Amino acid sequence: MSSPKLNPESILKTLRAAFCHDATRGDLLQLTATKLHAVGEPYTGIYVYMVDGDSLVLEAFAGRPTEHTRIPIGQGLCGRAVAERSDIYAADVTSEAGYLACSAETRSEFIALIRQGDSILGQIDIDSDQLDGLDAAERIAVQQVAEGLAALL
Ligand code: SME
Repeated sequence: MSSPKLNPESILKTLRAAFCHDATRGDLLQLTATKLHAVGEPYTGIYVYMVDGDSLVLEAFAGRPTEHTRIPIGQGLCGRAVAERSDIYAADVTSEAGYLACSAETRSEFIALIRQGDSILGQIDIDSDQLDGLDAAERIAVQQVAEGLAALL
């Protein structure tokens, strides 16, 4: 497997330092989005959705804004990931039934759930303008960020 462009440890270091300096939950979510976006392509848009009852609420993002600020669980790829309790990778979003478009430029999307034990707190949603933008190594790196973030929430 090739090495990922994303270095999860470097982002987690920043998050842990912020946590030690009394960063709020909102600060940590925003820092996660900002740092992932700063990696550059294929990380075009980063959206952090958190579970609120039977919906996902957009609590932080970096990149293009989205009109999807609240997504019912079960709808779109984001809502489906929570309903199925599984990360989702759409290498080509145009072939996904139920996909909710944030931008016409988006070609692929990866959703990594943020879990604490059995409970799902939310998700990191990566939109890429590249078709099949995140290979297996990148996806594992994003999952590591989601896991490390969960430990701070
Ligand atoms: N594409 C997502 C919606 C979120 S926006 O892309 C940021 C979906 O299908 O659920």
